[in-house]
Amino acid sequence: MHAPPPDPRHELASLTRGLKHAVRRAGHLGQRRARAGSASTLSNPGDPPEAPKPEDAPGPQASPPPEAPSEQAASPLPTSASEFPDLPSLREAVARCRACDLCQTRNQTVFLDGDGTAGILFIGEAPGQNEDEQGVPFVGRAGSLLTDIIEKGMGLKRSEVAIANVLKCRPPGNRDPEVTEKTACAPWLERQIELLDPQVVIALGRHAAGYLLDSDASLGQMRGRVRDWRGRKLVVTYHPAFLLRSPSFKRDCWQDIQLAMEVLQQGE
Ligand code: URA
Repeated sequence: MHAPPPDPRHELASLTRGLKHAVRRAGHLGQRRARAGSASTLSNPGDPPEAPKPEDAPGPQASPPPEAPSEQAASPLPTSASEFPDLPSLREAVARCRACDLCQTRNQTVFLDGDGTAGILFIGEAPGQNEDEQGVPFVGRAGSLLTDIIEKGMGLKRSEVAIANVLKCRPPGNRDPEVTEKTACAPWLERQIELLDPQVVIALGRHAAGYLLDSDASLGQMRGRVRDWRGRKLVVTYHPAFLLRSPSFKRDCWQDIQLAMEVLQQGE
């Protein structure tokens, strides 16, 4: 026996139900993405596919799902960094970043200090305890030495230079940054550099210098000259924390800083 042919009216009703469901689901997604700052500004074509959202999961959807905790729901990927048009929006995105495990132990992210109007960007390694507590880079003892280098040595105000780190979150116990952490965090720094557009970048210590130059040479090999780096000038010097332990290297650091200042003067 053959089954009777399907009734086209039933088929149509079923299609309509499916369509309505899809439209409702798209509406919920759109609202969530708008709240999160627009999905189109948070993803690149090259981004890994997003994890399925609760509302993407199969199964009946009686009503919109409850709002997830905001940090989770709106956590942007560092790979979307290039989509943020200015430093305030980038800072805000960094504060919600959960791209690596450091987000679980940080008190807060540490984004940037200073406005960079002097044309200089210092890049350190990662926040320490003081920075993690205050949300400002280089505020501990190493930070005091950096401030002296800027203000007493270079004759600038600390607020006129920009100061950032390779990592935006403190590694527990101030351990060295791991490669995976540096890789995850890198797009934030790269976007900071684009937006600040410094004339000269000064890399402080081997983590910053090694990351920027993609090198594991010693700091002594990397310092002491002005390099062309992605259309900018880069000077490498010792990290202030190292100088606190080994003050005899301050003379070399001062030579490096003078190189950076020559770059600035040439650009005037
Ligand atoms: N060391 C760094 O590299 N960065 C800071 O912000 C503080 C200490």
